[in-house]
Amino acid sequence: MTVPVVEVEGLRKAYGETRAVDGVSFTVAEGEIFGMVGPNAAGKTTTVECLEGLRVPDDGRVRVLGLDPQREGDALRERMGAQLQQSALPARLRVGEAMRLFASLYEHPLPPGPLLKELGLADRVHATWASLSGGQRQRLSIALALVGDPALVFFDELTSGLDPQARRTTWDLVTDVRDRGKSIVLTTHYMEEAARLCDRVMIIDHGRVVAVDTPADLVASLGAEHRVVFSGAEVSDDVLSALRAVSTVALVERKGDRVIVHGASDRSILAVLTVLDDHGAPIRDLRTEQPSLEDVFLALTGRELRD
Ligand SMILES: Nc1ncnc2c1ncn2[C@@H]1O[C@H](COP(=O)(O)OP(=O)(O)OP(=O)(O)O)[C@@H](O)[C@H]1O
Ligand SMILES: [Mg+2]
Repeated sequence: MTVPVVEVEGLRKAYGETRAVDGVSFTVAEGEIFGMVGPNAAGKTTTVECLEGLRVPDDGRVRVLGLDPQREGDALRERMGAQLQQSALPARLRVGEAMRLFASLYEHPLPPGPLLKELGLADRVHATWASLSGGQRQRLSIALALVGDPALVFFDELTSGLDPQARRTTWDLVTDVRDRGKSIVLTTHYMEEAARLCDRVMIIDHGRVVAVDTPADLVASLGAEHRVVFSGAEVSDDVLSALRAVSTVALVERKGDRVIVHGASDRSILAVLTVLDDHGAPIRDLRTEQPSLEDVFLALTGRELRD
């Protein structure tokens, strides 16, 4: 087995009375997109900054690419790239200049030209930081994180503040980065983003790890409840009774003009269709709902994930 690219054991970091990171342990495998998900102030950025060597942990063991970020920071920075949550560049610095500046920090940088082209910034080489749109700044920050050809990249709230379309484009970029053989650690408080991008997700709240698993297994851990929902204004109580009698159906509710069938497996949709059809009942606006990562978060923490 290959050595993990990140190993964290019992990490703690407090700011005065605030225990921002309170005993966090996890590993990240090579080639993985690993997501840290949690609400504001959960301790995501603090954790990431301890890995990047930007903050000194109070306690715990941290190894990144086999290195100690505190004692071997120079060697580590040569092999990692970071996009910071709060990144701003001097207003008058131009895109091309920023790329050359960052490239000069590495021994074996990538040529900036093709990277800017890939990120759709080729025609903005002479533009100043101040003149870039939010999405262009995000893309430049990705380019700057990649110019050193790092083995491991950190993205902290990469898509916050982007419109839905720019967010999707950014997701594709992140996947491309991984496909080039990099490992990625990212933080987000968008569950959809974590579900779409990450091989494994760590749910963190109040500085503690609540769960770590693949998105699918996190959802499966809730139990395999599936819901079938349809418009039930013209559906008789006889039909509802027939549905209740089906073995894979756990509960049937009428809510307003909707009927919600809670099933123990995704096969309950077949049962619902059969019963409706047998009774000659109309099948309108029928859809299935499965638990999401959002539901997992709610179940594990008792709270909604704030945006
Ligand atoms: N430099 C600092 N000085 C004092 N307190 C800090 C500092 N940085 C973070 N904190 C506190 O530590 C806690 C964790 O903050 P952190 O930035 O790690 O959370 P986060 O999960 O990244 O949140 P967000 O989703 O808002 O980015 C918060 O209570 C925050 O107020
Ligand atoms: Mg943060």
